[in-house]
Amino acid sequence: MVPRLTRRRLLRTAATLPLASAAWPTPGPARAAPARRDYALTAKPARARLVGENNPATPVWAFNGTVPGPAIRARQGDTLRIAVENGLPEETTVHWHGIRLPNAMDGVPHLTQKPIAPGERFTYEFAVPDAGTYWYHPHARSFEQVPRGLHGALIVEEAEPPAVDRDELWVIADWRLERDGQLAGGFGAAMDLSHAGRLGNTVTVNGREIEEWRLRAGERVRLRLVNACSARILALEFKDHRPVLIALDGQPVEPREPPKDEAGRARVVLSPGERADIALDATGKPGQRSSVVDSFYRNDEYRLADLVYAARPLREPAFGPPPRLKPNALPEPDLTRAERRQIAFAGGMMGGAFQGVLDGETLDPRALLQKGKFWTVNGQVGADHHGRHGAAPAAAPLLTLKRGAHCVLEMANDTAWHHPIHLHGHVFRVTALNGKALDPRDWRDTVLMNPRERLDIAFVADNPGDWMFHCHILDHQQGGMMGHIRVA
Ligand code: C2O
Ligand code: CU
Repeated sequence: MVPRLTRRRLLRTAATLPLASAAWPTPGPARAAPARRDYALTAKPARARLVGENNPATPVWAFNGTVPGPAIRARQGDTLRIAVENGLPEETTVHWHGIRLPNAMDGVPHLTQKPIAPGERFTYEFAVPDAGTYWYHPHARSFEQVPRGLHGALIVEEAEPPAVDRDELWVIADWRLERDGQLAGGFGAAMDLSHAGRLGNTVTVNGREIEEWRLRAGERVRLRLVNACSARILALEFKDHRPVLIALDGQPVEPREPPKDEAGRARVVLSPGERADIALDATGKPGQRSSVVDSFYRNDEYRLADLVYAARPLREPAFGPPPRLKPNALPEPDLTRAERRQIAFAGGMMGGAFQGVLDGETLDPRALLQKGKFWTVNGQVGADHHGRHGAAPAAAPLLTLKRGAHCVLEMANDTAWHHPIHLHGHVFRVTALNGKALDPRDWRDTVLMNPRERLDIAFVADNPGDWMFHCHILDHQQGGMMGHIRVA
């Protein structure tokens, strides 16, 4: 039941992105003193030209009227102060995905704050300890608010950024559009909640379907990829190019090529919520065209963009080793003394028999379906109206960890579906796959679990508070695949 992508059949566009300034400023001199940076975001209805000027605009919900919302930028160690105003017809909050911040600033309605009512404001203020590529989005009814257009990038610059010609951002979003350019309704439909999530038919880069993305021969681009889709997992193949991963979820990795699929294609796999920074060397020739293809879903391969070389090169191609980013100072989990806890994800179609506890009641799949719930975490069905600030009594945490504890979560995906699992307030290492130790052990804040897979993650529970732990396919989250972990 994956709707076919209809881009370029449904609505045609020839939008091109202008060539950005060719020279990226060389790294600044001495490290600037930490600063406070003020931003104001208003979430409100707007119209967006997702499919080009010659097609009808789409009514969306947007931050400051643009899709994606403005990129928020700070330097590592700065403090961000972001005043959020709610101009929507319903409650909202903003979550700062991947940032290690104080619990009260995490933006989870009922759990960490009272939701922001229509017409009201809330000011978030937090320091950004780690450099990297992050993003922000509402955490209230996310399965509708995010795919209506509420999402944006949050970039924390290194004190000494690597030398590249351009630092570029692709915020990738997925829309289910009707023929007249309207967003299809039916958010939270049972079919989407219980299967792969609400997959759309139009994928945009920075709020536009793009035909062409300009490159100049010889240049090196740092490309920050953000998967802001509510459900779509991406597997991006840069044809004729050899992108190098330099960071995942904002955290630097030893530069390496993306993993290959069975057909030998190197693909950057990015599930909802995840980010990847890649170094993209323009090794092609002036005038050359090559495409970026997303081939994650079988029989649903499509061209995301064409890389088009300008007629004139920037310089003779001569690329040194890929840039290396300095690691952030993250607390290193010690596996030899870590406590091990089990987390089992269950439910969904073809998931076999399971039961779930919702509001203290044990229910079978048929009874859960009546309540629009399909998934469990350790037998619990997550509901989003529970918490200290909640309309309903606080649900029990999935786990309580002692502050400072080193721990391993042994996660089991007992379902027939993919789930990108996200933990708030912490960054974890991915340490084992199906019982086998991994090397390298990447730092992540969101990690994709394939069907029936087991994955271990390890972290130091050093940030006190109640932290959401959920699937980032937002329909799965809504359908019950969420809970919280208490660090006390
Ligand atoms: Cu990106 Cu709990 O969210
Ligand atoms: Cu999921």
